[in-house]
Amino acid sequence: MPYAHITGWGMSVPEPVLTNDDLAKIVDTNDAWIRERTGIRERRIARATDFPSTLGTSAALKALSVANLKPTDLDLIICSTSTPEHLFPATACLIQDQLGATKAGAFDLLAACTGFIYAINMAAQSIRSGAIKNALVIGTETLSRFVNWEDRNTCILFGDGAGAFVLQASEKPGGILSAVMHSDGSGGDLLTLPAGGSRHPATEATIREGQHYIYMDGREVFRFATKVMVQSTEEALKAAGLTKDDLKVIIPHQANFRIIDAAARGLKLPIDRFVINVERYGNTSTASIPIATVEAVEKGRLQAGDKVVFVGFGAGLTWGALVAEWMGPLPSPRKVNMGRYRLWGRVRSILHRIERFLEGLIWGRRA
Ligand code: UT7
Repeated sequence: MPYAHITGWGMSVPEPVLTNDDLAKIVDTNDAWIRERTGIRERRIARATDFPSTLGTSAALKALSVANLKPTDLDLIICSTSTPEHLFPATACLIQDQLGATKAGAFDLLAACTGFIYAINMAAQSIRSGAIKNALVIGTETLSRFVNWEDRNTCILFGDGAGAFVLQASEKPGGILSAVMHSDGSGGDLLTLPAGGSRHPATEATIREGQHYIYMDGREVFRFATKVMVQSTEEALKAAGLTKDDLKVIIPHQANFRIIDAAARGLKLPIDRFVINVERYGNTSTASIPIATVEAVEKGRLQAGDKVVFVGFGAGLTWGALVAEWMGPLPSPRKVNMGRYRLWGRVRSILHRIERFLEGLIWGRRA
């Protein structure tokens, strides 16, 4: 049975920065309150030209470049997002098209902020079964489009961004060692985007009542989060046959510094064992774990052979943890020029559209 290794990683965040002071001009809040209660100083906000697919594609190209893999080498693309561009087509398919990943199946996965952990696990299981060799897992969000900028309980928390991992089959032991996934739908109403789905399609009333914005019971989510972060980390470690002392770092979902601090105390681990960057990006939901991972690798906090736990929680309710032995890129004789693939993805997409149009003319579009 092959092992599933993380061999590439990349991130992409929009340029515009929204600071706490900027927010204090919009809602009744202040920098001191936000920093003390959440640890957040600033977050990135998508420009009109940024979408989950464009941020996700940029992160994916960087991850493919690290892994030295062409988009056409991919067998599978899983896009984890709670802010898909459409109900359908899947954002994963938009990314597949922008990459020109012509041989890949592509689908979206929605497990909110836990989604990236679920998605890595699904990709790893597909690789270990022998069904596929190369997978791309993306976590991408533009939460700012669903935030009520008059609700100080939520608008201070969220930010936009994307991160991506490449997973590859290898005979070398290591890679994804264990994963646990949990859910409790009875808590679904604690963190929800009530309208816009098939239960409450968009109407004048849903818009008037603000049902297309994120609703959150912050205190309840906080209580739930502090409990499950510790539980799922311990469970995943046990499944991998490891102890917390084996871990180089823990990379938690970046929701709130106080939640991470509570998890550190619950696990009796020093806080500096945790990768934390919530102060610069806020809560980017499913993108927060890969973004934090990319920064940890760039700072040398995660190197080949290190053991790491990814742990998250979120709407659903969902929660989970995944233990991995970090690998880095597999040896490869060739060097892939990723700049060329960004352009090729666009050209290929236009050519396909023209081809479809011409076929429509030949076969009688209206018939
Ligand atoms: O990815 C998962 C997503 N969600 C989370 O992880 C969220 C988990 N929850 C939290 O992070 C925290 O509950 C919050 C940061 C959302 C809120 O912190 P808190 O310590 O639980 O505050 P609170 O809701 O208990 O509010 C305390 C006070 C209230 O005033 P009163 O009723 O005590 O007079 C709020 O009205 O703070 C007030 N408040 C604010 N004040 C200034 C709430 N939001 C703000 C604000 N600025 N932005």
